[in-house]
Amino acid sequence: MTQEKIEEVARRRGFFWKGSEIYGGLSGFYDYAHLGSAIKIKWENEWRKFFLSLDDNFFEIQPANIMHEKVFIASGHVDSFVDPVVKCKKCGNFERADQILEHHLKENFEGIEPKELENLIKKHDIKCPKCEGKFEEVGSFNLLFPLTVGAENPQKAYPRGETAQGVYVNFAREFECLRKKLPMGLAIVGKAYRNEISPRNLLLRMREFTQAELQIFFDPEKIEEHPKFEEVRTEKLRVLFVKNKESKEITAEELTNRLPQFYVYHMAKVQKFFLEVMKFPKEKFRFKELSEEERAFYNKYHWDVELELSNGFTEVGGVHYRTDHDLSGHQKVSKEDMSVFTDKKILPHVLELSFGVDRNVLALLELNYREDERNFFTFPRNVSPFHCAVFPLVKKDGLDELATEIKELLKENLSVFYDNSGSIGRRYRRMDEIGVPLCLTVDHKSLEDKTVTLRDRDSMAQVRVKISDLEDFMRRFFKGEDLQNLGVIVK
Ligand code: GAP
Repeated sequence: MTQEKIEEVARRRGFFWKGSEIYGGLSGFYDYAHLGSAIKIKWENEWRKFFLSLDDNFFEIQPANIMHEKVFIASGHVDSFVDPVVKCKKCGNFERADQILEHHLKENFEGIEPKELENLIKKHDIKCPKCEGKFEEVGSFNLLFPLTVGAENPQKAYPRGETAQGVYVNFAREFECLRKKLPMGLAIVGKAYRNEISPRNLLLRMREFTQAELQIFFDPEKIEEHPKFEEVRTEKLRVLFVKNKESKEITAEELTNRLPQFYVYHMAKVQKFFLEVMKFPKEKFRFKELSEEERAFYNKYHWDVELELSNGFTEVGGVHYRTDHDLSGHQKVSKEDMSVFTDKKILPHVLELSFGVDRNVLALLELNYREDERNFFTFPRNVSPFHCAVFPLVKKDGLDELATEIKELLKENLSVFYDNSGSIGRRYRRMDEIGVPLCLTVDHKSLEDKTVTLRDRDSMAQVRVKISDLEDFMRRFFKGEDLQNLGVIVK
């Protein structure tokens, strides 16, 4: 599905659209509408459920989004969080130097030095896409949004460029509160802000976006072990090594010849989340190893998580071994001791599991859209905008009342959409179009025998189920059982 198509469907049905749209929009900002919000919240909750249960010592925190400028001096973002930029001599248009090259030469230039980018732009005679003018030399542009806080003696601050820093500044306190154990995991699901030079591709490159990041603090001497490695040892991971052109499958055990066991264990869990919880097809997923030039300035090992979308394999997350880069930076600038005492005194290292929530939501939309005789979304059952729709066949004879009663009952545990207007076929179609996996219809027979019809979005199969069995039905259906096994099939 193309991005134009996604944008059109997203606006028409109510997933997302440009921020401040009634004023012409603000580039790099998007508003989630009612369906997009529902999917995003469900994605976030599935993420919490999966990653926070990897260890009893993993928790979520919610620090402030705007932070002291020293946080980003210590983290290195003030100096190093920069993108290469070129300005058109004629019209003043700014472009990201590596991206304009990528656009023309269909190769990745991330991490290449500014001078080299400049030479390539000259060599290939690349001009401004807006006016065909020539570019000035390549410069650097810092992505943090500076702001000042307060009226009197305004203080410089930044909205965080990554959620991760919210964890590091709270590390020492949390370690105390959580009874001084390693590994310790602290997660944040929240906003990050980057003044991107050229925001583009809908939710892929925004200036305000949501990250879900888990920082795992561990003893660096234990990086070659993970107590639960047996769970993943024989699992095949889909990886693309720097030197290869094609991705391949390799067992977690084989991968430990190249990477530490602690790292590989978490890669396997990340893959499981994408394939088993989000149900992306295996061939659309891969880990991509980054070269030394491509790696973020804070990473020793850096593998992107990629999904194949309409414009090719796209980064939607990453597994980052950040060493003690951040804790030692904060220790130096804040003068607070960040070392801890377990059986010895150490400065913990960090493994970061990082995800862009918006990119994942866009991937769900792109990869689940189907167009045949029906237009519909095949979202996994647990991340569809509504779990279930409830319809009375007609609005009279007490059907509306019984359907309302069932809707209220289901709403105790599920998100439910109620619709009592239009033909039943149209109502099914409307729910297919927004990817609701299950529709429940109350008809005249329901008044007599206290049963209802349930229809599966994907197979369009229908079964008849007793109202008193609905709770059990829902529990099993949303755990993944086939509808046909859960009731009497309606021919
Ligand atoms: N804490 C590590 C970190 O921030 P990153 O690769 O810069 O690493 C993590 O960002 C994830 O955030 C990316 O994998 C991507 O999914 C998402 N992301 C980054 N920049 C983004 C942007 N401008 N718009 C939307 N999502 C973005």
